[in-house]
Amino acid sequence: MGKYRATAVGALWFALAFAGAPALPAWTGNHGAPHYSEIARGRYLVKAGDCAYCHTADNGKPFAGGRAVPTPFGIIYSTNITPDKDTGIGRWSEADLYRAMHSGIDRRGNHLYPAFPYPWYTEVTPDDVKAIHAYLATVEPVRKHDRPPELSWPFSMRSLMAVWNKLYFDEGTFTGNPRKSAQWNRGAYLVEGLGHCGACHTPKNFAGATKASDAFEGGYGEHAFAPSLAGGLRDGLGGWTAGEIVEYLKTGSNAKSSAAGPMADEVLHSTQYLSDQDLAAMAAYLKGLPNNESKAPDAATGQLVTLGRDVYADDCSGCHLRSGEGQPGVFPPLKGSSAIQAAKADTLVRIVLDGAQVPPTASKPTGLEMPSFAEKLDDRQVAAVVSFIRNAWGNRAATVSQGEVARMRSQMHQDGGGP
Ligand code: HEC
Ligand code: HEC
Ligand code: HEC
Repeated sequence: MGKYRATAVGALWFALAFAGAPALPAWTGNHGAPHYSEIARGRYLVKAGDCAYCHTADNGKPFAGGRAVPTPFGIIYSTNITPDKDTGIGRWSEADLYRAMHSGIDRRGNHLYPAFPYPWYTEVTPDDVKAIHAYLATVEPVRKHDRPPELSWPFSMRSLMAVWNKLYFDEGTFTGNPRKSAQWNRGAYLVEGLGHCGACHTPKNFAGATKASDAFEGGYGEHAFAPSLAGGLRDGLGGWTAGEIVEYLKTGSNAKSSAAGPMADEVLHSTQYLSDQDLAAMAAYLKGLPNNESKAPDAATGQLVTLGRDVYADDCSGCHLRSGEGQPGVFPPLKGSSAIQAAKADTLVRIVLDGAQVPPTASKPTGLEMPSFAEKLDDRQVAAVVSFIRNAWGNRAATVSQGEVARMRSQMHQDGGGP
């Protein structure tokens, strides 16, 4: 019931998938201290899993925890995973870390909440967890106590997670699919496992669990809507080439779109550091996802859209151009964009209210900004302009109401942050 998982077992293909991996020095055996190459491999895997970002509070020490992870049930704070013996994971063995990542159970036997992406990390091989353990042992130990979660009942009971796991969680190490190429298998391993892309991009049920049947078809993560990564031509990656996916993940933008909100953080802290070979593997896997796109709605018309056209001409066309075509490499196109036609408009509303910055990456360091319109536009104007861009120039997607914008604005005040 958990998330999508390739079923067929094929040890040979599994091995091939890893033979295709970049700079993967052979593991040096379990005698004595971990070899440097294993620590370097662990460092790379920690980037792929985005551990540092989530385990570092704003202005906090790396890996010392305390970042608030918002969920529909309340806030869960990440923990101290530095090697401090009393407040961090200095006493954790490789087996302890494996149990946490594989089963969602901590060293003392308590259930962890799936805000820690163990439903994805469960796929990570014991060998990779070993390397992650070796690397984490080398980071600066920080003495800092964990902050307890702020959850409403019944979610405040950790033991409830045992039930949740029974219902929604399948433990399982990635086994690969022998009918697919080594590249596809490597991509599946990264996207479904350490990359935990489905944590945001797959729809969740009322209990916050993802559904196997509609993997990567778009979902909520951290109050933003992560668009479909499946094969849809209008609101998925069907119209993107594998090369465009690689460019987006490596540099934060491409001719089709640019990353904002939680995805900008993902690129900034994780995907930009992955090798071209691994990014190509992830793109190959994503390009293999089916196209289950729903039929496009009719183009919206009426007062709201007319108002939106005026707001757009005054406040947006200077950068995104009247035709919505943007300026390649500078301002993302809105016309024909999968992000603009995403099933839900939450991320777009948040970008307009709060502004956004393209993540500054090694290859595109400028980090262009979109200004915030929270002061300048009221809820009705924001609803209008977002509804307009979702239905102009051949785009087709559901409109947004003034009430929805008001809700998102107040939620952002509570969170103290944007998308
Ligand atoms: C999306 C945010 C997020 C990411 C990414 C993430 N974690 Fe966590 N992690 C958390 C949260 C939140 C908790 C606390 C869960 C709880 O209280 O039940 C946690 C708990 C843990 C724990 C249990 C620690 C303890 O003290 O009990 C370990 C170990 C851990 N994370 C390791 C990792 C590693 C290794 C990675 C990268 C491969 C990682 N985490 C990535 C959010 C994250
Ligand atoms: C914390 C939530 C989160 C995680 C984890 C995440 N994404 Fe995203 N992703 C988003 C959001 C939100 C957007 C929309 C950003 C925007 O509109 O600028 C997005 C956009 C994208 C896009 C562009 C889609 C489009 O139509 O413009 C791609 C490609 C993508 N993500 C791939 C990935 C991959 C691959 C992973 C895993 C390595 C991943 N994402 C992990 C939240 C997330
Ligand atoms: C000063 C130039 C500028 C103006 C004015 C501007 N934008 Fe943007 N816009 C940008 C930039 C730069 C980005 C890329 C931000 C990012 O990816 O983080 C962007 C991104 C966006 C996105 C997300 C696109 C994607 O691919 O995810 C939307 C939606 C958007 N703008 C809508 C608007 C609307 C609506 C207005 C008018 C109310 C507007 N913009 C005005 C520069 C501008």
